[in-house]
Parts: sequence; C-alpha cells; structure tokens
Amino acid sequence: MDRENPIIVGSDHAAFGLKKKIITFVSSLGIEVKDAGTFSEESVNYVDYGKKVSQAVSDNEYSRGILLCGTGLGMSMVANRFPRVRAALCSDIFSVRMSRQHNDSNILVLGGRVVGDALAFELVKTWLETPFEGGRHLDRILSIER
Ligand code: RB5
Repeated sequence: MDRENPIIVGSDHAAFGLKKKIITFVSSLGIEVKDAGTFSEESVNYVDYGKKVSQAVSDNEYSRGILLCGTGLGMSMVANRFPRVRAALCSDIFSVRMSRQHNDSNILVLGGRVVGDALAFELVKTWLETPFEGGRHLDRILSIER
C-alpha cells in the first residue's frame, strides 16, 4: 500500500452512498483521496465520472483510482477504453488479488448495487495492499498497449 500517493474515486448516483463510505474507509487507512464526484443522489450519466477518473489515471495524474456505479459494468466499459488503464470489475477477493498480482489493475470497479458495504471495504483493502508480481506479467500487460 502506497500511502504517499493519493487515489482518485468517482461514482454515479447509484453508488453515491457507497462511494462516501469508501472515501471514509480509505482515508482511515492514511491514504489521501480525491473525490471526482458525483456529489449527490441526483441522477447523472456514469460515463462523465468514469471518463474523469480514467483520464486522470491514464495521464498518470493519479496512479490508482476507484470507480463505482450500480453494477460496475458501465464504469468498467468506459475505463478500459483509456490508454494505460487496466480497470478490474470485481466482487470477490480472489479476483481482486489476482487483478493486482497478474494484471497490475490501476482502477478498481465496484457495483454499488452488487456488493454490500463490508465486502466492498475488504475488496478495497485487498486491492490496496496487494502488490503487482511483475516478471512475465509485466511483458503481458505492456503488450496490451502494443
Ligand atoms: C444507473 O441506473 C445504472 O445504469 C448505472 O449505475 C450503472 O449500473 C451502469 O452500468
């Protein structure tokens, strides 16, 4: 876990409540969090927030981000269109861990209508704490961009 680097978090209205709780949780771990919105439960287009966070990670303004919408599906579709973004939609611990070890995922995507709060916190904690293994996996992730 890199406490030096802030992370950027964004959601639509469907996951606004969970996003707020995740920001509190990540902050409690000593990691600075930038909230990219949305800032209320008023209906919005998830694409706008997905693009904002993904662009920031793609540009290396933030090295890691978290995106949330109702299912996580729309956010992951948006995020993985951006160069250098490797977004992982996860709802189980094994996938989260592997997304870091093998895929060096730099955006974690969660479905606010899919996972409960306690599982979401575990998913986030595991994602923050699990390092990339590198080695043969580095060649593989670099070849995504080629
Ligand atoms: C909003 O109703 C919902 O469509 C959105 O949160 C997300 O699940 C889209 O993939």
